[in-house]
Amino acid sequence: MPASVLRLTSAVRGADGRLLATPEYNHGVPGVLKNAIDWLSQPLHASALEGKPTAIMGASTGFSGTARGQMQLRQSFVLTNTPVMLQPELLVGRAHEKFDAAGRLIDDGTRQFIASFLVRFVAWADHQKGCPGARAT
Ligand SMILES: Cc1cc2nc3c(=O)[nH]c(=O)nc-3n(C[C@H](O)[C@H](O)[C@H](O)COP(=O)(O)O)c2cc1C
Repeated sequence: MPASVLRLTSAVRGADGRLLATPEYNHGVPGVLKNAIDWLSQPLHASALEGKPTAIMGASTGFSGTARGQMQLRQSFVLTNTPVMLQPELLVGRAHEKFDAAGRLIDDGTRQFIASFLVRFVAWADHQKGCPGARAT
């Protein structure tokens, strides 16, 4: 494995859960993110993606706010045996109207929704720890 992949794998293995944030490119997962998932998916059945709680969030300039890209991500996580939170979905559309020039999120409704999303993710990830196939580290 290249050293950069080993560094990424080690960081991901050490986490209690994974929160993926993505834009959407041409109705799909950006190639760079897909490439990172493909590297992380090896070795199959013992990878850093196996069995650990994961959530997906995304922001894009379109109205659907990464809905199609997020569905593609979920497909990859079937083979990697990665449990992904189903609900709530976090889709930030028209993102260019919700962030300021410095990249700060300035839309109050979106900020509140993200806060409740994170609370739900922590509770769901805790619950997953007791499930068969879950990985402690
Ligand atoms: C090549 C390309 C394709 C894109 N396709 C979509 C798309 O299908 N749907 C969408 O909502 N936004 C699309 N966008 C907007 C991105 O999701 C994103 O909001 C924007 O590019 C800013 O994020 P970035 O700095 O990571 O590129 C596209 C952007 C690029 C550069």
